[in-house]
Amino acid sequence: MTSKTTSLIELPTDLDCTQLPQHIAVIMDGNGRWAKQRGFPRMMGHKRGADTLRDLLRCCKDWGISALTVYAFSTENWGRSMEEVDFLMTLFENLFQLELAEMVSEGVKLEVVGNLDNLTPSLCSAIDRARVATRHNQGVRFTVAINYGGRQEIVRACQILAAQVQQGIVKSTDIDEQMLSKYLHTADLPDPDLLIRTSGEMRISNFLLWQLAYAEIYVTDTLWPDFDRLAFHQALLNYQHRHRRFGKA
Ligand code: IPE
Ligand code: IPE
Ligand code: MG
Repeated sequence: MTSKTTSLIELPTDLDCTQLPQHIAVIMDGNGRWAKQRGFPRMMGHKRGADTLRDLLRCCKDWGISALTVYAFSTENWGRSMEEVDFLMTLFENLFQLELAEMVSEGVKLEVVGNLDNLTPSLCSAIDRARVATRHNQGVRFTVAINYGGRQEIVRACQILAAQVQQGIVKSTDIDEQMLSKYLHTADLPDPDLLIRTSGEMRISNFLLWQLAYAEIYVTDTLWPDFDRLAFHQALLNYQHRHRRFGKA
């Protein structure tokens, strides 16, 4: 059975498979508040958040969503306590290791974007192993943003292009949107159609600043660890009622 057939069988009947967003970006926010509400340490929220992400990835496969990009750690998140940062980095490393077999068997193609230079060598190795093991997969394109900042990403692209101009490889007047996009971390992905942010914050917190130019934005008060299939279903239903005009009348 192909994944497309499976998706058609499992897709809720009120969702139109021809009107689904192809690429969904998610700001997974609210783990700390989820934990606090229950009197747990923040780390418990992150742990539950990881379970939510696993379920969402599975759901994307079942419902025929072709790309999912999630914000896991921003360049600004280094400002948190060392205990929390260390916990998150270890959590990412464990996830890439423990979920690898599942991602391979589900056909998930994993990519990690952001500045990976300041990550621990063991996390970098886990990322590399997962990337290599899934590189030929044809299923959901799953991109995790770690130590990612949208402004830094654009600055980096400009630096690469400026160097090429300096070396005479590129003419400054030839630089256009398409050329700049090629030097972003997401170069081979289409722009997201839908951005979901959990926990009610109405901001994009330095995520995919360039790529979200025309994304539909859906903000829900649900905290990330509680964002289940039902909540995802609501987000997709809401998206299907949007009228995307792209500046046209
Ligand atoms: C999102 O949840 C996870 C990361 C930013 C790593 P938060 O940790 O930001 O949770 P809140 O916003 O404090 O509730
Ligand atoms: C955005 O959440 C970053 C991630 C979800 C990884 P934050 O919790 O860091 O964002 P702010 O501080 O509320 O803007
Ligand atoms: Mg937050």
